[in-house]
Amino acid sequence: MSEGPSFARLDGERTSAIWMQRNDALECLYLGPRLAEDEDLHALAQASARAGHENQPDVQPTGGLLPDLRTGWRGPLLVGLSESGKTVHPRWAGLTLQEHCEADRIEASWHDQSLGLALSISWSMRAGDIIAAKTNIWNTGERELMLTRCASLLLALPHGVDHVTHFAGRWADDMRAERLAITRAGLGWVSRGGKSGFAGGDWLVFDDARTGACLGFHLAWTGDHEVRIARDEDGQITLLAQVPPDALGFPAFMSPEALFACAKDADALTHAFHVHARACLAQSTSAKVNPERIRKVHFNTWEACGFDFDEARLMRLAEDAANLGVERFVLDDGWFKGRSSDRAGLGDLIADPQRLPRGLGPLTDHVQSLGMDFGLWVEPEMVSPDSDLYRAHPDWCFHEPGQQRPTERGQLVLDLGKREVADHLFECIARLLRDHDIAYLKWDHNRRLFPPGAGLEQVHVLHAIWARLRDQFPDTMIESCASGGGRIDMSLIGLCERVWPSDNNDPIERVRIMREWSRFLPLEALGNHVGPSPNPITGRSTDMDFRAKVALFGHMGVEADPGVMETAERMLLAAHIMLYKQWRQVLHSGAFYRLDHPDPGIFAQLVTDGAKVLALVAQTTFSIDFEAAPVRLKGLDADAPYRVTLPEPWPRKARHRIANPEIWRTGITLSGAALMHHGLALPLTHPETAWLIALERLPQ
Ligand code: GLA
Repeated sequence: MSEGPSFARLDGERTSAIWMQRNDALECLYLGPRLAEDEDLHALAQASARAGHENQPDVQPTGGLLPDLRTGWRGPLLVGLSESGKTVHPRWAGLTLQEHCEADRIEASWHDQSLGLALSISWSMRAGDIIAAKTNIWNTGERELMLTRCASLLLALPHGVDHVTHFAGRWADDMRAERLAITRAGLGWVSRGGKSGFAGGDWLVFDDARTGACLGFHLAWTGDHEVRIARDEDGQITLLAQVPPDALGFPAFMSPEALFACAKDADALTHAFHVHARACLAQSTSAKVNPERIRKVHFNTWEACGFDFDEARLMRLAEDAANLGVERFVLDDGWFKGRSSDRAGLGDLIADPQRLPRGLGPLTDHVQSLGMDFGLWVEPEMVSPDSDLYRAHPDWCFHEPGQQRPTERGQLVLDLGKREVADHLFECIARLLRDHDIAYLKWDHNRRLFPPGAGLEQVHVLHAIWARLRDQFPDTMIESCASGGGRIDMSLIGLCERVWPSDNNDPIERVRIMREWSRFLPLEALGNHVGPSPNPITGRSTDMDFRAKVALFGHMGVEADPGVMETAERMLLAAHIMLYKQWRQVLHSGAFYRLDHPDPGIFAQLVTDGAKVLALVAQTTFSIDFEAAPVRLKGLDADAPYRVTLPEPWPRKARHRIANPEIWRTGITLSGAALMHHGLALPLTHPETAWLIALERLPQ
């Protein structure tokens, strides 16, 4: 017998999500800007209802959050099951809704008694009004059921959404955005290889082209995943996100969390994700130890010397770095036993007797005597066939017995599902951290996981190891790197405190990559380095001024060898490091805005903490116009006066085209309204021209 609907609602500061239950069917009735507490939800349900049309089952099929094929539903399913190779369709019954107000969570649960199954869906409201959705399923009966799908989320998107921006890419060309219309052909992305990968689909921005309203989505999972978007014949768009079926364990399966948020525009969506990420970062133990979370300027040895170093060279590099104002010296790949190239040594985490015969101690002491702290590169989930670890434990890596062991970058992957392997890995890192004063670990992951079989456990064990390290060594910060941005997801943020967005330090590429990542992650979590010129990946030569300005918007570091720079270059770099130190408090706590400009070669952005604002405007191409359109700012108080300066050093190519240089040094005063609606005319014709704009809000 059909009963009237009942509801559960979840409210954030600006968002409401409302579920509607009819018998055993559950749908999301509303997802969008917050509704009044006394909104009549029955009336809202009536306003959403339509009688069926000729080409539909006479009784509305059950779709929504847990669709039922039996009722004539033709769209995607949340859950799939089979028994002896045949599909099984559970009869989900007994739906109960719960509102856990104290936990900002709503939960729905069902069972199928004849199959012995129980299932629950929960949505939680998190910081930034990000909703975290997950699905849990239990096989409590005797039947040998196989779980072929258990998605984290199956969501009918609010009407109006008609485009999606996804971010795919490849090594050194991470996060290339592509905005696509959502048609009936549907869209989908699969990422294989045991990491979030460069393939896209785990970060999406849906938008309503008419209103600019956005819905952001992210699957917070550090491994394989699949994301599908379908548009049915009646125009309903659904989003499905899951880890792939072959990774599903039973008798109980808890899906990873899918995160999503509604926002009035793309900037508001970015703010939601940043608030969420900052809340995750603040939970990390090291954030509790160092609540200000100052992001020290790094020097990283990779692009300065690769594998070509000995102790004396590292000592010199450390001195040169300290003279620039660097605060942390990170020794990248090549420091451990036998690691003279990327073909050997992974697994043997002790200092190489040839290159560092006295071990790491003298180097760390020297670094510290120069006033810097010390960081170290590791890639502990991997093993080189040419290593002592592999020779001692050839069975510790993923392999198929009796088959070839295919490598990538000359390496294999340790099977963390084996207890002794995970314990060994943890102990190696813990020993390093106990024996040396290591403030920072750059934790790399440069090989996909194949042959298949790693599944979910590899990810869960990695998370557990990072959580243990974070708790036992709260002074050590971890960075997630996987050939650049190949393993970045929200479930890691807080377990690690920084990610490496790309191996590409060419500023013309980097400014784009950073701009895309910063849609979701705040600048303090995104490493951004000044590389050498010419750039080792693109071969392009660029000005130091441009490289340094681009690197300032992030967690700044240097990979170029100061020893081979000209004095003027070194001075320019040191000046930008000073600027970074002056501004990092604002950059790493403020609100981020992408600034629009008609010239597609111009990348502009600002961060404001309300009182102070810093903008970066970077021209990457040769502009078709000599007189580039003024740069209009955002996020200001229209009525407030602001003192505007252009912090020096100014770009060599363009500084002579600044009219009245003196006023940009002492500053001019303009209202927020003038800055947002009129903007500032800057000389932005040439590639590699970047300007910083500083604002200080004045008393009204
Ligand atoms: C990966 C990283 C680089 C560097 C090298 C070292 O490619 O992304 O930054 O650490 O490994 O081998």
